[in-house]
Amino acid sequence: MNDRGIPLIDARHMAPLQPSGSITVDRPAVDTRGRQMRDLRISITDRCNFRCVYCMPKTVFGRDYPFLPRGDLLSFEEITRSARIFVALGVRKIRLTGGEPLLRHNVERLIEMLAVIPGLELTLTTNGSLLAKKAKSLCDAGLQRVTISLDALDDATFRKMNDADYPVSQVLEGIAAAEAAGLTPIKINMVVKRGTNDQAILPMARFFKANATNPGRIVRFIEYMDVGSSNGWKLDEVLPSAEVVKRISAEMPLVPCDPNYPGEVAERWRYLDGGGEIGVVSSVTQAFCSSCTRVRLSTDGSLYTCLFAEHGFDLRHLLRSAQSDAEVSAVLDDLWNQRADNYSERRSAETAALKKIEMSYIGG
Ligand code: GTP
Ligand code: 5AD
Ligand code: SF4
Ligand code: SF4
Repeated sequence: MNDRGIPLIDARHMAPLQPSGSITVDRPAVDTRGRQMRDLRISITDRCNFRCVYCMPKTVFGRDYPFLPRGDLLSFEEITRSARIFVALGVRKIRLTGGEPLLRHNVERLIEMLAVIPGLELTLTTNGSLLAKKAKSLCDAGLQRVTISLDALDDATFRKMNDADYPVSQVLEGIAAAEAAGLTPIKINMVVKRGTNDQAILPMARFFKANATNPGRIVRFIEYMDVGSSNGWKLDEVLPSAEVVKRISAEMPLVPCDPNYPGEVAERWRYLDGGGEIGVVSSVTQAFCSSCTRVRLSTDGSLYTCLFAEHGFDLRHLLRSAQSDAEVSAVLDDLWNQRADNYSERRSAETAALKKIEMSYIGG
């Protein structure tokens, strides 16, 4: 066992030693429930300029919060090396997250390094505050699209949600810049916290329907989740997605539509009058663990096979201990083969109270 309580793989089960750079595994990794490893989410900084109440509440993430020291971060070379190994194991989409990924110094260079890996969709989730400045350079570096968080359109509610005094206008400028740069289609994530921003659902739906663009900006309403252990999550603050759809549909009728790809997290609904689509992410009321193909790499190189994990696997140590790519790959393959995660299927008041890793550290 390593210090995080994960059984280490018996070296006798590893693939034969290969010179670093050649990866032997070229069949998809499959877990105990037959789920493939398809999406890799990499958190490239645990810092953020927002203090969203559902993610980094100020009471916990205050001035003295011990963010990771620079030397603990995976380097761009280590991230790119890991990404290549994951792609050989079946990963087809990489999402850069954080914290706020655009705060990582020279993120464009990392994107350039990842963008040349063949067969990969490269995307990023951002709070949008720096996008107006960075959209073009991100696109030039090879980023394909972005997902932008936006929790309300009125300044008062938005500031209450981000708790860092950022105005909505700055994010809207970011969205426009991303669109102009071609980082499309743009997804807009709104986390709904009942009693705090649920009155912002309809204005949000109306605005993006009325200002529809081609190839589109798709708003996704996300159920507030019990990630981490600092947001004080309570079930009665979750507004079920069914209620979101009901409220919007009462004014602008919606009909369900098919997923874009198997295992898509958001459930899609389109406006009956042809005015575009929305999505709902219902991790609390309708768990989607059975099709979960996501693996997460934290800023300091811990690997998590579930968003709600309590422990990770120390990939950084493996990368830094002179292992060949084939050896690293065999360990990751084995870890995924043993995976049985299904947190959302068994969520309860007890599990919600567990000490889970924070979303700003593991990535949204
Ligand atoms: P695209 O379809 O490529 O746009 O990506 P996506 O929908 O997988 O990505 P996105 O990161 O935008 O996911 C939307 C939100 O769903 C996230 O911000 C999380 O709140 C939630 N989410 C994503 N993945 C998971 C997951 O594995 N488990 C749970 N419980 N929630 C998730
Ligand atoms: N519940 C749901 N989604 C969350 N995110 C962060 N914290 C939570 C939470 N508690 C997601 C949001 C945000 C992304 C960065 O992470 O979708 O847009
Ligand atoms: Fe920052 Fe995103 Fe977390 Fe908000 S949700 S605090 S923007 S990392
Ligand atoms: Fe995947 Fe864990 Fe989310 Fe279930 S709870 S969908 S296993 S990340």
